[in-house]
Amino acid sequence: MRNLYKKTPNLHCNAGSKCSMFTVLWCLLGCLLLFHLHSNIDRKDREVEQFQLRVSHHPQLRELQEVEVESIRIPSSKGKRSPRAAKRRPKRTTTLVDEFMDENSPLRHVFFPGRKSTIQPMKASGNDTYYYYPGRIWLDTDGNPIQAHGGGILYDEKSRTYYWYGEYKDGPTYHAHKKGAARVDIIGVGCYSSKDLWTWKHEGIVLAAEETNETHDLYKSNVLERPKVIYNDKTGKYVMWMHVDDANYTKASVGVAISDTPYGPFDYLGSQRPHGYESRDMTVFQDDDSMAYLIYSSEDNSELHLGPLTENYLNVTSVMRRILVGQRREAPALFKHQGTYYMITSGCTGWAPNAALAHAAESIFGPWETMGNPCIGGNKVFRQTTFFAQSTFVLPIPRFPGSFIFMADRWNPSDLRDSRYVWLPLIVAGPLDQPLEYSFQFPLWSRVSIYWHRKWKLPQG
Ligand code: GAL
Repeated sequence: MRNLYKKTPNLHCNAGSKCSMFTVLWCLLGCLLLFHLHSNIDRKDREVEQFQLRVSHHPQLRELQEVEVESIRIPSSKGKRSPRAAKRRPKRTTTLVDEFMDENSPLRHVFFPGRKSTIQPMKASGNDTYYYYPGRIWLDTDGNPIQAHGGGILYDEKSRTYYWYGEYKDGPTYHAHKKGAARVDIIGVGCYSSKDLWTWKHEGIVLAAEETNETHDLYKSNVLERPKVIYNDKTGKYVMWMHVDDANYTKASVGVAISDTPYGPFDYLGSQRPHGYESRDMTVFQDDDSMAYLIYSSEDNSELHLGPLTENYLNVTSVMRRILVGQRREAPALFKHQGTYYMITSGCTGWAPNAALAHAAESIFGPWETMGNPCIGGNKVFRQTTFFAQSTFVLPIPRFPGSFIFMADRWNPSDLRDSRYVWLPLIVAGPLDQPLEYSFQFPLWSRVSIYWHRKWKLPQG
């Protein structure tokens, strides 16, 4: 044994010059690889730096990044309690989230300002500046409150028009069961069109509930949530994906509908459990190479699944990756910037708001790394509740790379039709708050920041 062991290295060394040639070649290859890696990191470093310099020096983007502070205080308790009562049951501390969820809270108007204060979107008098007022009532061009909750936006290149699709929830809120979530019967998917992302014309209900056939997925007492539309270049069809469910959220499926035009009507094609798994909150993401992906909360919302759609976008393929496993995230909203994929998600607390997280990945299939809470400004509670809202979509602001509109829903569980839209500037720039797990400075991701504004406008031009 010992001899053999001794002999083995000799065998190589006997090859003499061959051995050293190999060593030199391997060393050279290693050096080349290291050099390549280093110059890649360096190039990416420089690109990101240059981009960040451009972003931070752009006056209009600086405006979007301004920090607005909120100082809402919890009102002092109503009425005095007797000392005996106080002894029996210590006073429950009320949080701002409790106040938000309480339909009788004196703070109601702060979260859901009434009609009087809200002709919105609003044109500043005398000029053409449009402002977004997150949380106020947003009206369409007919003067009616916009009904496009849990929605997303498609930019239609052909007509150079934006189409905003979402849940049309203009019906009474009720509880199907004592312990069930507040709900509104399905009415359908509302569609609004706009040239400027500000004036929205109602195009009608482009996919309607089924009124009579109780076995239909879209029968009114079921659930239709988070519709998203993408356009398929190859087939010339507009394809809508949505979460379909029963009133107890046990069907946990996705539905697909198709149309020849962005303004519908959409034909409903049916539903499935993608890859054979439960699917609740979901979205679709169209990449710049025309590939499209379905991303959905699965395994009792404990993880997300991500898989490419077929070429016609009407089905999923057999490929699926589990991402953010064990993190219990939902309401996914994906976007891409400088070749990196980003995603905002929420926690799973029903209609109640919770803290958003930003995630990033070099490949859409992962690994996805969680970067922390993207919310900036307001106050601590605002940041911990995603400004009392939940993510639904992220739209690039045209001609301003690195800047996006973060679209979220401020759900009103006591009157879901009165849920509000919280759109805010989202900027990808600047260093992360803390170094990520696998670093070695690569991959180099920028911070995703969502800035609170009571009032803000899109950068002009
Ligand atoms: C949330 C979800 C919403 C809706 C709601 C019902 O978690 O994001 O889309 O399903 O639950 O309670």
